[in-house]
Amino acid sequence: MTKLITNIKQLVGVRQQNKLLRGKGLAELPSIENAYLIIEDGLIAEYGPMKNLESETSNAKHQTSNTIDATDQFILPCWCDSHTHLVFAASREEEFVDKIKGTGYAEIAAKGGGILNSAKRLNDISEAQLFDLSWKRLAEIARLGTGAVEIKSGYGLTVEGELKMLRVIKKLKEKSALSIKSTFLGAHNYPIEYREDHKGYIDLIVNEMLPVIAVEKLADYIDVFCENGFFSPAEAEIICRAGMSYGLKPKLHVNQLNSIGGVQIGIELNAVSLDHLEVLTDDDIKLVSSSWSGVCTLLPTAAFFLGVPFQPAKKLIEAGCAIALATDYNPGSSPSGNMSLVIAMSCIGMKMLPEESINAATNNGAWAIELQHEVGSITVGKKANLIFTQPIPSLAYLPYSFGTNLIDRVMINGEFVS
Ligand code: NIG
Ligand code: FE
Repeated sequence: MTKLITNIKQLVGVRQQNKLLRGKGLAELPSIENAYLIIEDGLIAEYGPMKNLESETSNAKHQTSNTIDATDQFILPCWCDSHTHLVFAASREEEFVDKIKGTGYAEIAAKGGGILNSAKRLNDISEAQLFDLSWKRLAEIARLGTGAVEIKSGYGLTVEGELKMLRVIKKLKEKSALSIKSTFLGAHNYPIEYREDHKGYIDLIVNEMLPVIAVEKLADYIDVFCENGFFSPAEAEIICRAGMSYGLKPKLHVNQLNSIGGVQIGIELNAVSLDHLEVLTDDDIKLVSSSWSGVCTLLPTAAFFLGVPFQPAKKLIEAGCAIALATDYNPGSSPSGNMSLVIAMSCIGMKMLPEESINAATNNGAWAIELQHEVGSITVGKKANLIFTQPIPSLAYLPYSFGTNLIDRVMINGEFVS
């Protein structure tokens, strides 16, 4: 089935080659004004300036196609949200109110709230219920322009709970039109009964969870929350190496609240991405920019929601790093899967240029989940995952008018999302 989109005011993110964008390269966002795009069987087949199409109007392919007029609209590749925890059982707005009253994130966690609260709720519901809740969130983010997403486990913290989460993610992968990657985050927190027995819980991860995950092919990546009060760098290393022995590559939560050596371990293990990075020393920045080829995934809505300083995006870009932006969609630190808001916040709070942000949320997001051959840019052969904007005067208008939904329609695999 062929579809032709005509009169696109600006076709954004057109790339002939796949390239992870680093440093200054992040500001280059190639676009075509007054463009057309042809979709065949859900894939981008051809694109260019309208004048090229007009000169070929006799081409039978164009005459028989389904035509969509995009006058006044910008078209962008769909967002690639490379870090989420969108499979969860319940919201946590009571803790939100506690935080407003002055209780800190770590304090809430120490009292059995936070991740442990989510784990309790998740272990209490069925796989089918969990699937339904997650399916709705996936539909919600698709309407907000996300076409590819990474989803983590980590709210089970028991063998059954973690496997339940991962089986839900596997089912989402099978049923959804979105491209999905799955990450095992059994090391998200120590369950209460293992607070004083870290080795016991790590043994459970290594000997009880990972072998089943491998047999059922439930995960693509392994993650650890490397932080004071959670998992130390040494513990993260043991868990990652065990995951790597089953072919799971590391993508890690590091330096969210403290710089305790998470970056160093991540680089030593050649992580695909290091995520959060709110707290970075000059040495950490030197390391991520010079001795590693992975992606720094920044999560500005999590920093915003927790009221901690934003990630030092400018310093990372100046140092030549590759940056991706993601929502961290989860009930505790970022209860929003809205990538447009992430982009606005990265511009407003982290001083990223609109072009840098859009590249980080599309092209580099795809690299952060190793889907760069499928999604992330307007490239022939990639999926026709497209955001059609409302009429807007310029690209910078998107983050500028933060909080306004400027997405008119979203297309995934060449079909409009309803
Ligand atoms: O990425 N920091 C670790 N995990 C999540 C928050 C989890 C939660 O509070 O439920 C995050 O911010
Ligand atoms: Fe996270």
